[in-house]
Amino acid sequence: MENKSLLKALFWISFALISFVFALMGLSIYIVLQMMGQAQPNRPDSNQSSLPISTEIPKPVEDNSWKAPDLSTATENKELVEYGKDLIIHTAKYFGPKGTVSPNSTNGMNCQNCHLEAGTKAFGNNYGLVASTYPKYRARSGTIEDIEKRVNDCFERSLNGKLLDPQSKEMKAIKAYIQFVGSNVKKDDNQKGLSMKDNEILFLDRPASPEKGKIVYEQKCQSCHQANGEGLKNDDKTEYIYPPLWGNNSYNDAAGLHRMSNFAKFVKYNMPLGASPKNVMLSDEEAWDVAAFVNAQKRPHKNTPNDWPKIQEKPFDHPFGPFADPYNEKQHKFGPFKPIQEYYKKTKKS
Ligand code: HEC
Ligand code: HEC
Repeated sequence: MENKSLLKALFWISFALISFVFALMGLSIYIVLQMMGQAQPNRPDSNQSSLPISTEIPKPVEDNSWKAPDLSTATENKELVEYGKDLIIHTAKYFGPKGTVSPNSTNGMNCQNCHLEAGTKAFGNNYGLVASTYPKYRARSGTIEDIEKRVNDCFERSLNGKLLDPQSKEMKAIKAYIQFVGSNVKKDDNQKGLSMKDNEILFLDRPASPEKGKIVYEQKCQSCHQANGEGLKNDDKTEYIYPPLWGNNSYNDAAGLHRMSNFAKFVKYNMPLGASPKNVMLSDEEAWDVAAFVNAQKRPHKNTPNDWPKIQEKPFDHPFGPFADPYNEKQHKFGPFKPIQEYYKKTKKS
């Protein structure tokens, strides 16, 4: 009798032990497999050229991104800084067709149309880096530029307008605001989203396609920016509700957005309105193709004979020759851009 119950107990103890060992093995196998899965990189689509328009939306990036300081914490020049912010948000009220400071001196767009959330949105073409990096050398002018010169670049190109007097109260206010926005950014800061360089996008292996981009535009942009691309103004016509993407009142062909990579990076992380790095709504292909479609439309032309005095410093997507490489204007406009970049990498090495 006693032996039997001892045996029984032994049996159950061994059974429990064996089950435990198996459970442990199972768990370890699971953990190892899980780790292997994570180590596999998410391969980007390498066969982009044969696809129609890929609607695959990339994974969101992590949010360790820069945040602008709160304006309520401004101590110096608070009034000037606040005026500067209003000038960025409502530029047209002051300088547009019905502007109160200088009417008809711009196309009626606001700085905020492209520098989102008054130039404070991470990955949204913000002003975070300006205070710590200007004055700096810029290849476009071949000179050292201060903040006033850079602001006036956007007045002349993005707003297709007149230069602002660097001594004016308005320029001082814009500068004070931009400096405040960047006041929590150090030189060589590595917080994410300060520069559009962080708006990662893969090159296509083919030229970007205005035809495919037209379809993207009709499906994802037209409801706001309108079928004619000219945007929509408010009732008293003082400001745009939806800014123009082409036509007489859009940025001119010397503006930053007329370069494909700037446009594609900006829209991938910010458009349709409400998109953000956490909520990307366009695939890389859609972003390039819609950039090609929009930048193939008619817009104001600006003569810029003094731009890029050193032609070897022209960016790969500057669409106007002469070039220091064997590629033509069409390829510099629509791509494929990879061969151009590789050409410069090679010539720099040799
Ligand atoms: C149509 C779009 C657009 C509008 C409107 C616009 N900008 Fe810009 N701005 C850009 C783009 C794009 C860049 C970046 C260009 C580049 O990196 O080559 C830029 C760059 C800048 C920079 C330099 C940022 C840096 O980190 O170097 C400043 C300063 C600036 N803009 C100020 C302004 C001001 C002030 C206004 C209004 C008067 C304005 N912009 C209106 C598109 C625009
Ligand atoms: C729901 C409305 C909406 C949709 C849809 C939308 N946008 Fe926008 N877009 C805006 C608004 C509003 C702004 C200006 C933001 C601001 O002033 O705060 C803007 C700004 C822009 C700008 C910079 C300003 C300019 O006019 O040059 C570009 C470029 C742009 N959008 C491209 C696109 C593209 C491309 C698509 C489609 C993939 C798109 N947008 C879809 C509302 C929209």
